[in-house]
Amino acid sequence: MFNLILFGPPGSGKGTQSENIIESFGLQHLSTGNLLRTEMGNQTELGMEAKRYMDAGQLVPDAVVIGMVGNFMDAKPDAKGFLFDGFPRTTAQCIALDALLKEKNNEINLVLALEVSEEELVKRLLGRGLTSGRSDDTNENIIRARIKEYHDKTTAVATYYAQFNKVVGITGEGTVETIYADLKKEIDGLLASQVEMDAASNE
Ligand code: AP5
Repeated sequence: MFNLILFGPPGSGKGTQSENIIESFGLQHLSTGNLLRTEMGNQTELGMEAKRYMDAGQLVPDAVVIGMVGNFMDAKPDAKGFLFDGFPRTTAQCIALDALLKEKNNEINLVLALEVSEEELVKRLLGRGLTSGRSDDTNENIIRARIKEYHDKTTAVATYYAQFNKVVGITGEGTVETIYADLKKEIDGLLASQVEMDAASNE
């Protein structure tokens, strides 16, 4: 299994780049934002609880998100790996994810962290808000609240995985194609080194 976290602030391109990565590498895309929006659309109890937080630009409580992620992973027993997009977002979520993967004798292999300036993030999200129908994209104050949540709670995720040397920073400004090329280079490099290590251990 190969498990990747695509990390970065709101609007850094996680969803956009995930599409290319899952297609090239055959990973299961696990976006907690998409899962929560589906729950909201279906007006489930979980969705209604999440909506209060999402509309305010705040993180949904850890227990809600972790339970949802565990269910998603259990429903994909044949996955050759997961691309986590928008998860984990707190240290508690990192610890829970490590435990979920450990149950399957697995771990996070790589964290690719997209780096984008705050003004570019706001510009992108306000632009998307003109057509996306996402209530959290239409108001600059909510967008800035999401970015503040990222700085207050989510940057800790990079610190957590950095202690295991798993984080690689990627410039997230430029064309979608050039950014994807940089991401792909890192994934290809890691996969090649895994093949070499496997070959050496079989000698
Ligand atoms: P979520 O859905 O995860 O949203 P987000 O992190 O705010 O990220 P976005 O989807 O807005 O941005 P992105 O980085 O995916 O960029 P994208 O490719 O879309 O979360 C929403 C909410 O759900 C959270 O606020 C929270 O309340 C809750 N939530 C979700 N997960 C949670 C968790 N784990 N714990 C607790 N709460 C959770 O691109 C953005 C725009 O930029 C697009 O218009 C795109 O076309 C454009 N763009 C992309 N790349 C480029 C480029 N290179 N140049 C120019 N434009 C670009």
